[in-house]
Parts: sequence; structure tokens; C-alpha cells
Amino acid sequence: MRHTQQPANGPLTGTIRVPGDKSISHRAVLLGAMTSGTCDVTGALDSADVRSTIGAVAALGAVVEVRKPRPGALDITVTGWGRGGPMADGGSSIDCGNSGTTARLLMGIVAGHPVDVTLTGDESLTRRPMRRVTDPLTRMGAHFDTGEGGTLPVTVHGGALRAIDYDMPVASAQVKSAVLLAALSAQGRTIVHEPAPSRDHTERLLPAFGVGVGRSIEENACWVDGPAVLSATDVPVPADPSSAAFLAGAAVIVAGSEVHLPDVALNPTRIGFLRVLEAMGADVLIRPDRASGAEPCGELLVRGGRELTGVVVPAREAPSLIDEVPLLAVVAACAHGTTRFEGVGELRVKESDRLAAIADGLAALGATVRSGDDWLEVDGPAAMRGATLDSLGDHRLAMAWAVAALAADGPVTIEGWDAIDVSYPTFADDLGRLLQGA
Ligand code: S3P
Repeated sequence: MRHTQQPANGPLTGTIRVPGDKSISHRAVLLGAMTSGTCDVTGALDSADVRSTIGAVAALGAVVEVRKPRPGALDITVTGWGRGGPMADGGSSIDCGNSGTTARLLMGIVAGHPVDVTLTGDESLTRRPMRRVTDPLTRMGAHFDTGEGGTLPVTVHGGALRAIDYDMPVASAQVKSAVLLAALSAQGRTIVHEPAPSRDHTERLLPAFGVGVGRSIEENACWVDGPAVLSATDVPVPADPSSAAFLAGAAVIVAGSEVHLPDVALNPTRIGFLRVLEAMGADVLIRPDRASGAEPCGELLVRGGRELTGVVVPAREAPSLIDEVPLLAVVAACAHGTTRFEGVGELRVKESDRLAAIADGLAALGATVRSGDDWLEVDGPAAMRGATLDSLGDHRLAMAWAVAALAADGPVTIEGWDAIDVSYPTFADDLGRLLQGA
């Protein structure tokens, strides 16, 4: 499917409550499935990725009831598989679709149970690295058959696990979460050290399910004592900052815009993009309000028209904005001077090689871009022109190119637009509403 986005012919105005957070939705469903009770997950994201997780836990014996309270949202009742653990009589094959979070966290969960489970996924997911998860889980005592290069399909042969002290080579919330979830079945204290802080939703959510998580913020370390049993709890899901970022970025680059984005998760490990927009000089007001479950939450008020300046985004910020680099690179093309993103090599192993795709796409739009193994530079302000770009099946690229169209001198056509279903199926409607002054 293709989508054509016209340049903005006026400001974006109005209020949009973007759909529920993808990372929190996955975790709420997965942790709910590990309990012996019933958990209500309200306002979860209704997207292809979250549906992959729902399908996976249902295949492994959890009972999942799904209601659709409004477009883009799901209220989910999960009754867990309980103390018997996930069921996979005769071995189960689970399709994780496009979702790295589903595949990697599930590996950690099933590793500690006496089951054989095969995980597979779509063309993009079967190219992504899985050794970063199978390596530590193998040290804990699980066994794996993997595709060549350690990729999916992966068969997990689960069983008794031992606790480990693990130094993660890359800052990855999916790897950290897989090890912590496996640790729930292991005997003793499992400690995970990260090179830089990645999103900490698992650490925040486990205590709500009755499992203590130790943390040393100074040492970027966290730990759990196993074996541990999860108790059922209800989880409200706040709006996804990674989805809000596209509307915020759109508002920032169109003069006269004023956009309110309520109920957004303001977890500091997720809002590096706000710190960058502010450093560029954008008019962004963060109004924290009540917490939503274990997550801080609040409204973003974003106004457009301020002159933006290029900035250096240091490597230590990379994990807190890694999913927002496509959007920030588009904003950088509208800023005066050069913006440099450092330490963003992980972009090469996302849903596409995002580093190469951002550079190619921005160049096709008329911007000047330079990139290396793990860095990206964008010069601005660019006189962006209309173009036809391919999403490469990557949701965040599709949305970034639609935002770029707003500042271009002609329409931008995005091939493979349906990729947006992975994280923000109602994006075109929401952007359209703001352009019409919703
Ligand atoms: C996610 C973690 C991030 C992020 C991904 C979702 C998660 O990946 O890019 O979209 O839900 O844990 P890393 O595992 O590389 O941190």
C-alpha cells in the first residue's frame, strides 16, 4: 500500500491522545501470562506487534480476552498459565511477526521451563541478531537451535536455569528484559550490567507483579532473586512517547502549530527526543501529571515556528532516543547547522538498516547527509523536495517520511505504508486531524 502526504498548507493544531505504549503493552501481556491469576491491561496498543505477543501467550496456554474500546486501543484480560508454566505439548511454533520485543522477551520467559518452543518471524525479524539473547540464556543453562548466524527461527529447549552475573555488550532493553525474565526461574541472584541505561519498563513493572528488582543507577545494574512467583495485577498503559514524537516533530517544523499530546509516558529512559528538541530550540512544554501505574506520565504542549539549531547528540543519549532518530533526523534537516548523532550503530539492526535508510531517504528529499558505522550527520536547513520513498517495511521510516513531507515543496509518496500498523495504525488519521485543526 502507498500513501501520499502533501506539504503542510497551514499549522497543526489540536489535541491527540496517541495510542498506548508498545513496550509497556508487550510487557503487561507477557507478565500477565506468567501469573496464576487474571490481569486487566487497559489502553494497550492495538497494533500488529502487540497482537503478535497476544497470539504468542495464547498459544502457550494463557487465556486472553480482547476488547476494542476505541480505535487504536485494546483492553485485554489475561489469565495466566500459572505455576505449571507455558504449555507446548509436542513443541510449539510461534510467529512473532515483525516484533523483536515479542521474540526476545519470550525466549527469556520460556527458557526456564521444560518446553521446546520454536520462534519465527517475518523477513525483517529473521534478519535481526538473536545471539545477544541466546548467549546469556545459554550461560544460564538453556539450549537453542538457531538459524545460520544465530537468527530466527530459533528453537528454545528450556529447563532448569542458574543465576548469572551478566555484562551486556550492548545497551538493549530487550536483552536485559530477556535475562531478567529468565532469572525469575533461576536459583539465586541474577545481575545485569548495561553499558548505558536502556528503557526500564521491565524493572518498573515486575514490582507491580510482586517481584522485587534491585537497582544501582550509578552502575547501570539491576538484579532479581529467583525463583520468583508473579502475582496478578492490573496495568494501565500510558500513551507511547515514540508515537507522540512524530506528532511533536511535525508541530515543531510547521510554523504556527500548537499541539497538545496528553497522557504520554514520561519515563526518562524514553524521552531523549524531547531533550534534543529542546536543545535545538524547539518550543516544547512538558507538564507532568499523575503517574500511570509504574510510569510517570504527562502532557506535551508543542508549538512550531521557533528557529531550530543543529546539535550534537552524544552516544550516552542514544538508547533513550534510538527509535526517534528517523524523526529527529527529519527535524535536523529543518534546523540551521549540522546535527550529529553519535553512537547510533544499533540503528543498523532495527526493523531495517535505519542508519542507511535515513541517509538515503533524506538525500532523496534533497538534504545533505553523511554517515559512518555508528554516526549520522544532517545539514540544515535543507530545501526539501517531493519524492517517492520506500518504507522498507519499517514503521518508523514510513512515519518520518510523512513528517518530512510537511516541510517539503511537493508531495512525498511512501511505498509500503502499511508498515505503520506495527506501532501506530491510526497515525495518518491523527496527523490529518491536526492538519485540519482537530
Ligand atoms: C524495545 C527496546 C528497544 C527499542 C524497541 C523496543 C523494548 O530495543 O528499539 O523498539 O520494548 O524493549 P533495544 O532492545 O535495542 O533496547
